[in-house]
Amino acid sequence: TTVEWEAESYDMGGHDTYMHKEIFEQADAVDRVLRGRIDDRFSTVHLGGLNLDAREARGVRRIKILGCGTSYHAGQIGAQLIEELARIPADAEPASEFRYRNPVVDPDTLYVAVSQSGETYDVLAAVQELKRKGARVLGVVNVVGSAIAREADGGTYVHAGPEVCVVSTKCFTNTVVAFALLALHLGRIRDLSVADGKRIIDGLRRLPEQISEILAGEDEIKRLAAEYADAKSMMFIGRVRGYPVAREASLKLKEVSYIHAEAYPASELKHGPLALIEPAMPTVAIVPDDDLLEKNRAAMEEIKARSGRILAVAHQAQEKADHTIVVPKNENELDPILMGIPLQLFAYHTALAMGRDIDKPRNLAKSVTVE
Ligand code: AGP
Repeated sequence: TTVEWEAESYDMGGHDTYMHKEIFEQADAVDRVLRGRIDDRFSTVHLGGLNLDAREARGVRRIKILGCGTSYHAGQIGAQLIEELARIPADAEPASEFRYRNPVVDPDTLYVAVSQSGETYDVLAAVQELKRKGARVLGVVNVVGSAIAREADGGTYVHAGPEVCVVSTKCFTNTVVAFALLALHLGRIRDLSVADGKRIIDGLRRLPEQISEILAGEDEIKRLAAEYADAKSMMFIGRVRGYPVAREASLKLKEVSYIHAEAYPASELKHGPLALIEPAMPTVAIVPDDDLLEKNRAAMEEIKARSGRILAVAHQAQEKADHTIVVPKNENELDPILMGIPLQLFAYHTALAMGRDIDKPRNLAKSVTVE
């Protein structure tokens, strides 16, 4: 495939695997997706290829985001950003499921197809089905000129640069940033204030440096990965903004290390999964410093009471956790962009210690062009 041909021609820049290289490219990649798009005068962003004028944007009643795997998780964070910043009801759904349930296609809904490769069959087929029914579809895509980018009515490129490792890392981060830009753009056309627009822009500008700060903690994360590598299975929990982060981190770990992992909203633990908690099943808890902090602490307490080990990703050391990876704080809405990054490294080092084929995990393909 094209990806393999390109893979051979890339300079590894001193990294042993593409996954490691791509994780470490994220500060530059985020810088690239922001570049040239911010408009400080109106505290907004310009997204050239959207093909959606202000009047049309105001007419959007609902946004439905469609993608698969990691792109679907990025879309889940994207939907929350759109609801928070633009106050448009939004949700994400796996493209494959959407296509097969004969969905109601409503003319006031804006559909957004998300894909790194731009070639994933299930996403492409959903786009084609939507277009056949007269819907407006935007693409949030990484590969320029790919099938989904061509098929969509407009959209925005993610500008993550080439991603070779089957396990997506930098494209996830850049896709979420692209969604933050879309949400900000829609928000400023609708009810988001100049002050809030500026607050988000300032937060976006801080991201590259904060990403570098997180990656500088690699040695500590490697040490933690060794500590938890004996786990047969891991639980990932988060709430609201933290939940898609937990889902994506759980997917990363299982894809690359083959350790079984489950992701749940922390609030759902007591409705069943708490039965799994014991020392052999550690929990990774996403604990942002936001209005749900106390609720997340209570969930950790429940886990500790069942002798569960906890690794927290948080903005301050968590007393209830056995270990905390402290990440820099950004604006609440943008925190999910940063909180998953240490867990990419965690998955990487776990898999490395287990001798896994990092760039080409068994049974997986970089882009799934069949159903
Ligand atoms: C990511 O780590 C996975 N390998 C996979 O879930 C991937 O995100 C999915 O197949 C979608 O691919 P796309 O973004 O190219 O459409």
